[in-house]
Amino acid sequence: EKEGFEHFMLKEIYEQPKAVADTISPRIKDGNVVLDELEMTEEDIKKISRIQMVACGSAYHVCMCGKYILEQMAKIPVDVDLASEFRYRQPILGDNTLVIVISQSGETADSLAALREAKKLGHKVLAIVNVVGSSIAREADSVLYTWAGPEISVATTKAYSTQLAAIYLIALLFGRTREVINQEDYKKYVAELGRLPEKIQRILDEKERIQWLANKFSHAKDVFFIGRGLDYAISMEGSLKLKEISYIHSEAYAAGELKHGTISLIENGVLVIGVATQPELFEKEISNLVEVRSRGASVLGLTLYGNYAMEDIADFTIYVPKTEDYFTTSLAVIPLQLLAYYISVARGLDVDKPRNLAKSVTVE
Ligand code: F6R
Repeated sequence: EKEGFEHFMLKEIYEQPKAVADTISPRIKDGNVVLDELEMTEEDIKKISRIQMVACGSAYHVCMCGKYILEQMAKIPVDVDLASEFRYRQPILGDNTLVIVISQSGETADSLAALREAKKLGHKVLAIVNVVGSSIAREADSVLYTWAGPEISVATTKAYSTQLAAIYLIALLFGRTREVINQEDYKKYVAELGRLPEKIQRILDEKERIQWLANKFSHAKDVFFIGRGLDYAISMEGSLKLKEISYIHSEAYAAGELKHGTISLIENGVLVIGVATQPELFEKEISNLVEVRSRGASVLGLTLYGNYAMEDIADFTIYVPKTEDYFTTSLAVIPLQLLAYYISVARGLDVDKPRNLAKSVTVE
């Protein structure tokens, strides 16, 4: 069933344009985002005073993106918790807090327990789930399904991308309903959503360059992914992908936090991957990269076409197409998935079934 691909992971990476299109397009009607499955009236959406997002692993990284996107697009304050923390920390959620649980499998024990905790506290739970009819889908008040199809590889790729797509849809619907996005911007965003699959495809078509970089860095011992804002959230996912299938130690850091301790680990031979897609933070990120480079790190930059200033500082640069600032994660994550994949292949590891890991974590 790998359909000619060497591994499920690569097949699933290549399925992303279709998975993202399948998740978005049925929900755009006459140029508007329509999410009947939320079963929320305009009134319900206007009443939300806070959003609490909960998940594990990569789905948690989607929540981190969700915080930046929902707060900025819908102007609703968002808190994010790891499900394993949320369930035991006796959370205090104010009135009219909407809880969003994200899970590919819909069976993750901690995420299910977090959902139950939120319901016990009397809050509405919206689940973003891939597996139809799974426990989380059944117990949530409403479900927004991601249409990624079955994901076999332990390391998630296409589910992650469709979860992000679901967040964009929710942010647009909430922002428009609450009248904090004007009609012109709304139309521009909706149109751009439709172009994401083709832009993802363009990155996939350039996979040879990532493969070349992966071979170059396959013996790395320590890798730091740094970014600010949404780029920090992408860094978290890039780092997890790399460590889980290549067994290379890696960490994601908010770039501005490096100098509060971690920069002491930067020395010759360390690889720093600098993610810089957000225009307002670009200069700041570049100055962080100058700092690590002057301490001997090799720098791999990841930015948008047009930001050629990256080449002044980075040893190598990966470019992705331009899109709306809120949607860049969907593009920037693709080379990071490919990088992790090809490094794992270069190291001769079991890409689809990394050691010690299970696809669905149904125990604590
Ligand atoms: C990483 C990965 C895991 C899952 C996590 C949550 O590639 O796949 O971190 O994201 O175990 O799983 P779900 O989404 O099924 O709740």
